[in-house]
Amino acid sequence: MSAISARSERRRVLRSALPSVTQAMPGMLSGIATGLSVVALLATSAWLIVRAAEQPPVLFLTMAAVGVRAFALSRAVFRYLERLYSHDAVFRQLAALRSGVLERLIPRAPAGLSSHSRGSLLNVVVADVDELQNLSLRVVQPIVVAATVSVLSVTGVALLSPEAAVLLLIALVVCGAGSAWATRLVAGAAERSIAPKREALTSAIIDYIQGFAVLSHFGAEPAARERVYAADAALTRTVLRRSRGFGLGAGIVAVCAGLTVAGAILIGARLVGDDGVGGPVFAVVALVPLAVFEVVGTLPVALGHWRSVRSSADRLARVAPQGVPTEIPDECHETHLPSRRGTRLTLRDVTARWPGHEAPSITHVDLDVEPGECVIIEGSSGSGKTTLANVLVRFLDHEGCYLIGGEEARDPAEVRALVGLCEQHPYLFDESVRQNLLFARDTATDAELMDVLDRVGLSEWVDSRGGLDAPVGERGALVSGGQAQRLSLARALLRDFPILVLDEPTANVDPDRADALLRDMIDASRSRGRSTIVITHDDVPEWLVDKRFTMREGSLV
Ligand SMILES: Nc1ncnc2c1ncn2[C@@H]1O[C@H](COP(=O)(O)OP(=O)(O)OP(=O)(O)O)[C@@H](O)[C@H]1O
Ligand SMILES: [Mg+2]
Repeated sequence: MSAISARSERRRVLRSALPSVTQAMPGMLSGIATGLSVVALLATSAWLIVRAAEQPPVLFLTMAAVGVRAFALSRAVFRYLERLYSHDAVFRQLAALRSGVLERLIPRAPAGLSSHSRGSLLNVVVADVDELQNLSLRVVQPIVVAATVSVLSVTGVALLSPEAAVLLLIALVVCGAGSAWATRLVAGAAERSIAPKREALTSAIIDYIQGFAVLSHFGAEPAARERVYAADAALTRTVLRRSRGFGLGAGIVAVCAGLTVAGAILIGARLVGDDGVGGPVFAVVALVPLAVFEVVGTLPVALGHWRSVRSSADRLARVAPQGVPTEIPDECHETHLPSRRGTRLTLRDVTARWPGHEAPSITHVDLDVEPGECVIIEGSSGSGKTTLANVLVRFLDHEGCYLIGGEEARDPAEVRALVGLCEQHPYLFDESVRQNLLFARDTATDAELMDVLDRVGLSEWVDSRGGLDAPVGERGALVSGGQAQRLSLARALLRDFPILVLDEPTANVDPDRADALLRDMIDASRSRGRSTIVITHDDVPEWLVDKRFTMREGSLV
């Protein structure tokens, strides 16, 4: 991705994280009202205390006393409203943002996501999206509130003492810039690297847990555990460094506030006198900076959050950019489907490559499969058989001509309704056997489910596990490799695709059962005019096979 397109992608992500102006406005206005209440409360209290010390008639103090109570209450009420409105707006936007990220990821699956680790995908969908909610809540809103409250407070002080107002203005600018600079110096790198380090930790934990058996078998478990600890320590160090930056920023703001109060006292003291301002006004001029700095103190933290948000936006833009790579077919939105004549499958001069790879994985492939035919594709490992299967179900786009029933096979959804794929590494959901089959055809009855299980030789096993409610575990952890493959076959049988692509369907099944299974599937498909394309290393009896091809370095021969 070029620097310019990366920047515009990031801008797009950041825009999509911001609530609309109408949604953000109530929270923003409540935030400003909270800040102004804080300043007004301190100003009124200072005036009241000093004026009360002069022992005027109580009547002169009543208004100020009411003001103190009103501002104390309004500060709490506005803070509550600010939290309520701003979080409501952000959570609404967050839901839209998360579903937007998923919508951008889904068309890329599976071929376009294989280059990202699971840890990175998980972090993008969960942690990075969460981080982006800080953009409105902890970056934009505090900056707008601090700026508005500062301008209004300086204006208010200017009405009482222009010199004190100038001092306050200069102090705010110097302190804002100084604390932002110091925070960035100490914590800038840490804020940018928190997201990548969190991802490294997630990936290390996922690798450790999922590869535990292999790691402990080869004695590599301690090293892998150390990697998790190291990733955790690195993340902890980074978070601490960020906190140090925040602490330094807050310290600078506190020091600035103290110095400004001292300066305001020096200026105010010269004004107090018979013909100058009275003691109560002096107290206001001297103490208001304290309240203003309390509001402005959120700025260094806001700028820190900005750096983390930007880093998350960059990662999101990288993993889930707008549009899909050219190697992956886009969804079609054509209203009328092509009128196909049958399900004859034709490939002419088809070439395809994986996203991010220059060299094609299959080149100039020609293939004809008539309805009811069984075609066997053999070939050495890495020759491109699975790539071809991915092209046939339109997980990968292709150059050349791909026809079904004489019409171009374009719309992925339409093609996937006609061509089914039993993947080489089937995916099972952490659900019961029934649920793992039902999503292929949710109207199937238990009898139909048992029938397909019987055909793939799993009915006895299912019975012994207590029936269709038997769990299969996460990613099929509770079933053997061969059972997982047969469940995946049962799923495909249930859907009854006109064209079925089987990618090494019996690689983990014992040879006797594998032969019988393949024979049964091919025979049944043929008798119903269904075509089968079998990618296999097994011997399939000649009489079942109509055509036999070998894939060699991406070409069918
Ligand atoms: N998800 C992927 N992303 C990028 N490249 C891939 C991906 N899957 C396969 N390839 C590449 O495509 C080429 C063909 O691989 P393919 O999986 O099609 O081989 P195969 O014939 O199915 O091998 P096997 O018999 O081992 O399953 C290989 O060079 C491989 O590295
Ligand atoms: Mg393969």
